[in-house]
Amino acid sequence: MADYDLIVIGAGPGGYVCAIRAAQLGMKVACVEGRGALGGTCLNVGCIPSKALLHASHLYAEADGHFAKMGIVAEPKIDMARMQEYRAGQVKELTGGVAFLFKKNKVDWIDGWARIEGAGKVAVSMNNGDSKSMTAKNIVIASGSEPASLPGVEVDEKRVVTSTGGLTLDRVPGKLVVIGAGVIGLELGSVWRRLGAEVQVIEYLDHITPGMDDEISRQFQKILTKQGLQFTLEAAVQGVDASGDRLVVTYKNRKDDSEATVEADIVLLATGRRAYTDGLGLEQAGIAVSKRGQVETNGQWKTSVDGIYAIGDVIDGPMLAHKAEDEGVAVAELLAGQHGHVNYGVIPGVIYTDPEVANVGKTEEDLKAEGRAYKVGKFPFMANGRAKAHFATDGFAKVLADKETDRILGVHVIGPSAGELIHEYCVAMEFGASAEDIARTCHAHPTLSEAMREAAMACGDGAIHV
Ligand code: NAI
Repeated sequence: MADYDLIVIGAGPGGYVCAIRAAQLGMKVACVEGRGALGGTCLNVGCIPSKALLHASHLYAEADGHFAKMGIVAEPKIDMARMQEYRAGQVKELTGGVAFLFKKNKVDWIDGWARIEGAGKVAVSMNNGDSKSMTAKNIVIASGSEPASLPGVEVDEKRVVTSTGGLTLDRVPGKLVVIGAGVIGLELGSVWRRLGAEVQVIEYLDHITPGMDDEISRQFQKILTKQGLQFTLEAAVQGVDASGDRLVVTYKNRKDDSEATVEADIVLLATGRRAYTDGLGLEQAGIAVSKRGQVETNGQWKTSVDGIYAIGDVIDGPMLAHKAEDEGVAVAELLAGQHGHVNYGVIPGVIYTDPEVANVGKTEEDLKAEGRAYKVGKFPFMANGRAKAHFATDGFAKVLADKETDRILGVHVIGPSAGELIHEYCVAMEFGASAEDIARTCHAHPTLSEAMREAAMACGDGAIHV
């Protein structure tokens, strides 16, 4: 008899959700997590603390900018210690919430670091100094990811930081240099810019946010530039010299190979993340790993060893908490004899800047590459009454639909609450809806959602309000 039906390694959004769902489906479950808190990167040093700082800095920017226009007289001041307490408090409450859910669902939290000793066998070096051997019918690896390193850049998480240290600065830096114009760079760059830092983003490519619909990406860069972020594109960072009082960042302009330097108080390294598999013993256990260091799976989350599965950032696909959660549920259902499934064509992506940027499905570039005939419906937030009342008119919604069948193929939004608005289209796409289905659905007035409807109308006979 094995000790458990399932041992999950890692308690991030993939692992803890998998553990809870498996317990709900009747399995005896343990989840090994060595961080000392549940919730993984997302709750501890990622999504949640960054959203706390994004919210606080957004309100500060509103108070500094729009309050006076609305007749509110206030002089906002920043108390960084209090803001950081607020961030830490949110993290504590939410990670504690996961511990509560574990208890409620009778999932055993094993407080230590796991090593796989073969199919069904896990050894844990416990945080209290003990070691423990456990057996299970199945194992799920959900060990997540860590920031990728960059040659020449030594991270100390104080002056040269990744997203982890970038969340806990005790004062607003005078000058922040961000390496990489991806999601992390732009979210955290926005936080510190809004709080008063000078922010320069150095990006290797000739555009920001790789993989995003090109038209949205260009508009996004314009809006962020208007907010004061400076972009240096087509520049490869070569190194950071931390020997002096100020940091010196050296980069090479890719157009002409010339070298340039810039000084900074803080450097944020945000050049991507890589699978975290340290100490898991994958090689000894015979678990195949790709050239990029990710655990290989067969499309149904099964690794090369029977009874061992992997989900989330440690496998291929977008490194997103909600993708990991869905995989966690799917694997638990498969192990319970059900038909776990993830529709990878309908996974939304959101950047929580102001305005937010959200997308689901294909970009125009994808459709062109596929040679698929499509039509575009667009609607600007400038023409939406609610957005106007909120001083939030930057951006637009864009719907891509099949030219012949009108089926929705992709949706891209830059605008207020885009991260909430996108879900109407996620549901529509799950049901194989057409743009006309959205266009003919009554939407309450006055809402931001009306802009989403009008973009669908623009795929047909035309929007009303432009
Ligand atoms: P990213 O892959 O989104 O962007 C990294 C950027 O760095 C790229 O644009 C790349 O061209 C650039 N770069 C690489 N080497 C460079 C160099 N030497 N010099 C200059 N630029 C260079 O990675 P990021 O932002 O670190 O995010 C990591 C992961 O975390 C992503 O998969 C992201 O989806 C996820 N994430 C998602 C969030 C969300 O959904 N809101 C929030 C934060 C992270």
